[in-house]
Amino acid sequence: MTRISVALATAGLMGATLAHAGEVEVLHWWTSGGEAKAASALKASMQAKGHTWKDFAVAGGAGDAAMTVLKSRVVSGNAPAAAQIKGPSIQEWAREGVLANMDDVAKANQWDTLLPKAIADGLKYKGNYVAAPVNVHRVNWLWANPEAFKKAGAKLPTTWDEFFTAAEALKKAGIIPVAHGGQNWQDFTTFESVALGVGGADFYKKALVQLDPAALKSPTMEKVLTTFRKVKSYTDKNAPGRDWNLATAMVIKGEAGMQLMGDWAKGEFLAAGKVPGKDFACVPAPGTAKAYTYNVDSFALFKLKNEANQKAQQDLAAAIMSPEFQEVFNLNKGSIPVRLNMNLDKFDECAKTSAADFVATAKAGSLVPSIAHGMAVPSASEGALKDVVSQFWNDDKTTVAGTMDKLVAAGKSRQ
Ligand code: BGC
Repeated sequence: MTRISVALATAGLMGATLAHAGEVEVLHWWTSGGEAKAASALKASMQAKGHTWKDFAVAGGAGDAAMTVLKSRVVSGNAPAAAQIKGPSIQEWAREGVLANMDDVAKANQWDTLLPKAIADGLKYKGNYVAAPVNVHRVNWLWANPEAFKKAGAKLPTTWDEFFTAAEALKKAGIIPVAHGGQNWQDFTTFESVALGVGGADFYKKALVQLDPAALKSPTMEKVLTTFRKVKSYTDKNAPGRDWNLATAMVIKGEAGMQLMGDWAKGEFLAAGKVPGKDFACVPAPGTAKAYTYNVDSFALFKLKNEANQKAQQDLAAAIMSPEFQEVFNLNKGSIPVRLNMNLDKFDECAKTSAADFVATAKAGSLVPSIAHGMAVPSASEGALKDVVSQFWNDDKTTVAGTMDKLVAAGKSRQ
């Protein structure tokens, strides 16, 4: 081929790509070290297809700020192509008539056979796919710094009694026992792990998923709240307002011994070059080894007018479910692939435990949705429950009995 014909052929190819190239604007809240690394995998796969990635990152753990910004964008008729939306909120957005039907992509890529049915159902509205899932996060984890434990002569806890024994030893050794960020979603992340560990999966489902008044106000809930308050006494005075990844950094540096947090925390340890099993430990939150609080990140796809952008959006949905993306994204994010039958050889022990426990707990009936991360109850009830729990956490004068009454009331606030 002559130089000119090569140039022409290249121009032709470029023309072909550009003709279909669109822009995807993606709203997410993945701004910490590990999160950003994971998100860049999605950006790279879209750019490889010739599309333009417009990053719409709104910082703030668990996405509270991102959801506020999203609402104003959609209300003003300027929705992004995709937004990180999960759980019952997917249905809430779909009911507004603003989400796009992704069935063509889902059928072409066999999503129905590649996803656990319960998860697929949550991504559909009236039988049509409106969102694409990226992962499964386990929320009921305890992260620990083995060196800090060694220094304190403490042992990794498996029960709440052992947790407090370890916390006491860490404190005596001059180490902050529990790294915490006082934001209401972080308070609730701790609360739901305590509820699962103290009350068990059946209690968790009755109280926090079905919002059963008899469980929300019960001797078990009394024990949960008392235990939860005791956890607070092992946090430091600078906890209020602290971001979750800064709390994780305290464990990474050995300033703190433990953190109760979902496995996006692992993304931070890995991004800091730490090795699981050596530099940090992952164990189920006390009393929850045989249960699993799940949190599935997904992207809801909004209706778009521009054809090239619609094509880019479909490519995004397809890329999200591809085995290549599911692997590289989840290796960085700390989660496990949501796509079934993936090879996990490259994943570490924390992820392998998570994958095995996901299957085992699904069989045993102890796989439960995370409330703190929007997987179970309507957003209005979730917000009301979080407010009650944070009020209890922040004000030691708030009584257990009064808090249980407020939980019952919060459980009734449906949207
Ligand atoms: C999301 C995670 C995210 C975490 C902290 C959770 O609700 O599911 O993807 O890393 O919040 O922002």
